[in-house]
Amino acid sequence: MQVIDSIEGLRKARKAITGRVGVVPTMGALHEGHLTLARQARADNDTVIATIFVNPTQFAPNEDFNAYPRDLARDLAMLETLGVDVVFTPTPALMYPPNFQTFVKVDQVTQGLEGDLRPNHFRGVATVVSKLFNLTQPDVAYFGQKDAQQVVVIRRMVADLNFPLEVAVIPTVREADGLAMSSRNVYLTPEQRAAAGVIYRALVAAAQAYDEGERTPANLRAVARNVLKTEAQAEIEYVAVNDPSTLIGVHEPAEQPLLLSMAVQIGRPRLLDNCLLPWSLNNRDGLTATLGV
Ligand code: PAJ
Repeated sequence: MQVIDSIEGLRKARKAITGRVGVVPTMGALHEGHLTLARQARADNDTVIATIFVNPTQFAPNEDFNAYPRDLARDLAMLETLGVDVVFTPTPALMYPPNFQTFVKVDQVTQGLEGDLRPNHFRGVATVVSKLFNLTQPDVAYFGQKDAQQVVVIRRMVADLNFPLEVAVIPTVREADGLAMSSRNVYLTPEQRAAAGVIYRALVAAAQAYDEGERTPANLRAVARNVLKTEAQAEIEYVAVNDPSTLIGVHEPAEQPLLLSMAVQIGRPRLLDNCLLPWSLNNRDGLTATLGV
């Protein structure tokens, strides 16, 4: 496995690669969610490039950029075990040299949901992902359902800017009690960690109501909220029902697939989760065909 921390080094390595290339962009602190993306990339491609970069431009000043968990040695050991070929590990100074001033701004799909609570977050994501695409020139790029709005934003950008690549969407990987894996779960105390299982139960309850015929978005949201309210430590930021293609809010009963998403604060971290309705769409094919297309 080649570990590369310079632009010239990466360009040189990329030039020597032929065949199908898959890229897995990450911020490190890898867990089974990231590893599932890398395993899929390994299975689908001749060459797999992973990137590890805690991207400062997607963090607001009040967010956890400095505290974000970092363990490069452990991350590299995990990626090596999976048979990843190249890992790109740039520094902020390399990605954003003095006088850097070009950003990618995706309009409508960055509004609402996380975009409302984290202004400029998706501008940072779209910018760094564009740079990583230009540097690694992948045939296919792997993203997780966990960050559903990110998938929609990246797909919009790929279409609008004619990036010559496919986006593969990988279903959310969960802990035994259903909590979506996240690098920020390390911030939870054992008690908060136990409480966090309520989020998955809220998704499942709404999905069950949907399966039983409930189609009114307000009622689906109420089912999820009522489950979340059984946990005193859970502070609900939002529970939303959106069109999975455009992210426009859905308020009338509809037969189209829906994206149910929520942000819940338990202790320090904001925990995000989502599912497509009907539940049967929450697999790679269903997600790839529905989310952001
Ligand atoms: P990061 O949070 O490290 O996540 C990297 C990728 O792993 C993202 O595509 C994310 O959706 C996916 N992922 C995280 N948790 C997952 C889970 N439980 N199951 C499945 N996939 C999961 O997302 C980012 O980094 C950054 O915004 C990035 C795209 C790297 C740009 O900086």
